[in-house]
Amino acid sequence: MDFFNYKNQLLQAEDVALTDIAQEYGTPCYVYSRATLERHYSAYADAFASHPTLICYAVKACSNIAILNVLARLGSGFDIVSVGELERVLKAGGDPAKVMFSGLGKQAAEMRRALEVGIHCFNVESEAELYRLDQVAGEMGKVAPVSLRVNPDVDAKTHPYISTGLKENKFGIDIKDAVRIYQIAHTLPNLNVMGVDCHIGSQLTELKPFLDTFDRLIGLVDQLADVGIEIKHLDLGGGLGVRYRDEVPPEPAEYAQLVLEKVKGRNVTLAFEPGRSIAANAGVLLTQVEFLKCTPHKNFAVIDGAMNDLIRPSLYSAWMDIVPVSLAPTSEGQRSYDLVGPICETGDFLGKDRELDIQAGDLLAVRSAGAYGFTMSSNYNSRNRAAEVMVDGDKTHLIRARETIEHQLAGEQVLPD
Ligand code: LLP
Repeated sequence: MDFFNYKNQLLQAEDVALTDIAQEYGTPCYVYSRATLERHYSAYADAFASHPTLICYAVKACSNIAILNVLARLGSGFDIVSVGELERVLKAGGDPAKVMFSGLGKQAAEMRRALEVGIHCFNVESEAELYRLDQVAGEMGKVAPVSLRVNPDVDAKTHPYISTGLKENKFGIDIKDAVRIYQIAHTLPNLNVMGVDCHIGSQLTELKPFLDTFDRLIGLVDQLADVGIEIKHLDLGGGLGVRYRDEVPPEPAEYAQLVLEKVKGRNVTLAFEPGRSIAANAGVLLTQVEFLKCTPHKNFAVIDGAMNDLIRPSLYSAWMDIVPVSLAPTSEGQRSYDLVGPICETGDFLGKDRELDIQAGDLLAVRSAGAYGFTMSSNYNSRNRAAEVMVDGDKTHLIRARETIEHQLAGEQVLPD
């Protein structure tokens, strides 16, 4: 459920017409709804309210500091994968004590900064990383809180590029090896074993893989107890899917009910790292039709948004809903269009074969673009990255100015004469 709805035939974000946003801030432009973000975060917080649970929003999904700040105000924790994301969380007023540091290639300087600000836990992905963390913490006279990211070998049944919990994936530590490596962690002087972590993939539309994972992890918790290692938290990662087209993903409440049933009577805190299910449907990419190009073979709508702004359709063949901002009929009538950007790649499209009644100059909204939209954008073809706007009721706030050529060129230099 989100707050992008039509009123008087015009698509609105909360109480603001997207036509007004395009006029004020230009296109392409990401538009987020604060009320939607808050609703999605609260769906998790409320669902797990009866059990000690830390909801750590996965910053990579959408990392603008205004987004992080809205969530921090609700008490959210954060899942980060780089020192850049950590600095964003700090700048946004996030509590470092609620930060999980995931990712399989943490550098020593990143570990140092995280230890300096006192994060909640490092999710360690290899034996080698354990030794590095132990050394860095030792040099600082600190003890690093750690979980091991375990690879439970569960099929998340999602796109192969975003499936992470199979044994052939690069992520985590094979669950069969986990006890041995936990024992190493336990003996290292500058580490404090806190939890068990996993993340099996993204855009999951069924609960079974999560529940199978839970069972495997809780089995590991028991095995660790047998060798004298006490686990305080279980981090089940992110991954809950959203509706892009006709998927019917489970709600956080259904997920919570089943997990809470399983965890009953156990003295273990829960943690989750949702990204997409909080941010995706809280944002749209607003784009304008530049030209219609109709040929005997195909009709193209050339739009000002492109694969550099939103790469999901090109990279994953992801289907994203694309709707006209105005429902008023045009003189062109309904046709089937490929919606293509100006980038010099055949793969530069946001949608194909879409039935639309549009004309040049019309605005389109790409729905569900709040997650893995702006954060995956680039400057390919030297295009400036889009502006980002947050709507809050009847107010709009520019939360990231459109990039300029000066921004792009800052830092570049020609060779001396
Ligand atoms: N935790 C870890 C360790 C992760 O790697 C991820 C996502 C998450 C949490 C958040 O997962 P979510 O709740 O958003 O599913 N760019 C792709 C998605 C890549 C996901 C990477 N990891 C896409 O656009 O579909």
